[in-house]
Amino acid sequence: MSALLDEQRGLLEQLSHPRRVQRAGRTFWCGQWYGQEVVLVLTKIGKVAAATTTTTLIEAFGVDRIVFTGVAGGVGAGVNVGDLVVADAFIQHDMDSSPLFARYEIPLYGCSTLACDVALSTILLEATHAALTGTTAHFFNEKNLVSPHIHQGLIASGDQFVASAEVASQLLDGLQAAGFSPLAVEMEGAAIAQVCRDYKVPFAAVRTISDRADAHAHVDFSAFVQQVASPCALSIMSRFLQML
Ligand code: ADE
Repeated sequence: MSALLDEQRGLLEQLSHPRRVQRAGRTFWCGQWYGQEVVLVLTKIGKVAAATTTTTLIEAFGVDRIVFTGVAGGVGAGVNVGDLVVADAFIQHDMDSSPLFARYEIPLYGCSTLACDVALSTILLEATHAALTGTTAHFFNEKNLVSPHIHQGLIASGDQFVASAEVASQLLDGLQAAGFSPLAVEMEGAAIAQVCRDYKVPFAAVRTISDRADAHAHVDFSAFVQQVASPCALSIMSRFLQML
């Protein structure tokens, strides 16, 4: 899964015997890649769209694991443009049912964070390391994104494109006051993680940092998704599939 076409461009060409299925206003591409049965789909943007896509993927296609590749805004210290973040858990930065429930707690779930599948995330982390030392490295050098780092940690999702340093630091301050230190922000991951938890489907996610969630975010984001996001996704996912 990815949110946008630019995050997934090039992956479709890898599928052998691709078959197109329309459901819930989305196009699902089914096929084989490195001997694995694969379904590619775009979630669209935001938590509800991502939840609908995930539910459809599980209910109508019977997938037994889900991986997301895409971009995110870096908010953690030292999480810079071009770095990669493999999620170990997700939180919704816009979840607030206080005073009924603690700030950030998902009502009736008894938790604020949703963990990713450890085994699947370990493979994804390995695939990301392999991708960075392979073809993507040349690609990053060309774009002057020298020595990108790979991080693993918490990602915060919400229905907001964060495009101001002030908003980003408010988000971060609130989360840190509650004991959470996210590395990046995006708009889908926590929703996918929640649906996957409901259905007990293993989930892993990797996000390339396209911007620093500040006033330049929209400019950095647009250029990045067009130029970097797809080659990254392609490189990581082809290695990932061979490691399964
Ligand atoms: N995805 C990529 N950059 C983002 C940002 N700054 N805010 C939310 N989602 C993003």
